[in-house]
Amino acid sequence: MKTIIEPFRIKTVEPIRFTTRRERKKILETAGYNPFLIHAEDVIIDLLTDSGTSAMSSQQWAKIMEGDESYAGSKSYYSFENAVKKITGHKHIIPTHQGRAAEKILFSIVGSKGKFIPSNTHFDTTRANIEFMGCEAHDLLVEIGKHPEKRADFKGNMDVDQLVKFINEKGAGNIPLVMLTVTNNSGGGQPVSMQNIKEVSEVCKRFQIPFFLDACRFAENAYFIKLREKDYAAKSVLEIAKEMFSYTDGATMSAKKDALVNIGGFLSLNDDSLAMNCRNLLIITEGFPTYGGLAGRDLEAVARGLEEVVDEHYLQYRIRSIEYLGEKMTQAGIPIIEPTGGHAVYIDAKRFLPHVPAYQYPGQSIVCEIYLEGGIRAVEIGSVMFGKYDKEGVLISPPMELVRLAIPRRVYTQSHIDYVAEVLIEVYKNRANLKGYKITYEAPMLRHFTANFKPAE
Ligand code: F0G
Repeated sequence: MKTIIEPFRIKTVEPIRFTTRRERKKILETAGYNPFLIHAEDVIIDLLTDSGTSAMSSQQWAKIMEGDESYAGSKSYYSFENAVKKITGHKHIIPTHQGRAAEKILFSIVGSKGKFIPSNTHFDTTRANIEFMGCEAHDLLVEIGKHPEKRADFKGNMDVDQLVKFINEKGAGNIPLVMLTVTNNSGGGQPVSMQNIKEVSEVCKRFQIPFFLDACRFAENAYFIKLREKDYAAKSVLEIAKEMFSYTDGATMSAKKDALVNIGGFLSLNDDSLAMNCRNLLIITEGFPTYGGLAGRDLEAVARGLEEVVDEHYLQYRIRSIEYLGEKMTQAGIPIIEPTGGHAVYIDAKRFLPHVPAYQYPGQSIVCEIYLEGGIRAVEIGSVMFGKYDKEGVLISPPMELVRLAIPRRVYTQSHIDYVAEVLIEVYKNRANLKGYKITYEAPMLRHFTANFKPAE
């Protein structure tokens, strides 16, 4: 087998600004030890997110010039609508400026106090939008998905027995919809199987509950189905993606991931009256239904991106580049979620820093150290992001303490990734000297974006 190469040539480059360790120490202190607060130009390799960070293709840039900026009925809206319909098959396609805007509109209409929304694992903005409406967001992930060290093909699946139990307990009438996040971002970018999508859809039909996908990374999920699930090897990724959506009643999508663009999203659905209500709210919050918070050129870029993302050479390179970094790390003994998922490598901070307790945020400690060591920016997905307090103010931690190294699409080459592995290995060798952190400021919601920290005594 020959090396799987980047399936593109580079036409435009963006210089990287290098910093010294001494400079980075100062920068980190000024940012309150929170990488979200570091200026991007002070970062050498930015693995904070794979969202909105894709490199667009020459064809996408060409489409940008063709953008029709008419307020109503823009030609670009119809290219966008066609591209989304081709994949989702959904009847109503509502553009939004990004994923959370689609979530906000959907849950403002279906959500209210006393309602429950189950998912395999809600992403943080989805959870926040649900909770903002007074609803409860519940994660019903399969047991194996909660064990970073155990390998399985579809660790993003929902526990279907638990779903049935949940519906019986809460009452179908109190569950406005069931969601599945593909791939399961907060659970390691792990895929959901077609079998699981089918089973969840059958349960939803039985109880007459609408079924929605959080489809940000649908193409990566579809490619895993092709690689790992019986009977799908000979199908195209587009066929698989279409089948995934065929079991659903709707979807929210952040186009900033698998539509290979820097901004955009949509809400797609079949129900006429729900669509009408969503469009009315869209007009108040985002814009007219044929642009929804986006410029015509953005709609064109999404339409083209949705075609490019199902290309199997691209997906083979994409999934392999994540696996490649994962392999280098496991060879050095670094504990990560195995197998690697679709868009990121997730370090298991509990096993990386067993001497740092959850209330001293082991993930945050790793994130700070890899910035210091190599100017690499990553994100904590653990007690900082999902921690809650009980009535006595004691931290309630989520099941996993993770650090995510998210790989932007088509941006970094193999030598960038080699550098990342070298920095991580260095930090791992020095792990005994790493200390925990304390929060010195936090906002009441989504605190990880703005919190300040200081090293614990
Ligand atoms: N759903 C999932 C699964 C996501 O990963 C994200 C964003 C969203 C919804 C919200 O989309 O950012 O366009 O409003 N995830 C980014 C990340 C921010 O870094 O994982 P958005």
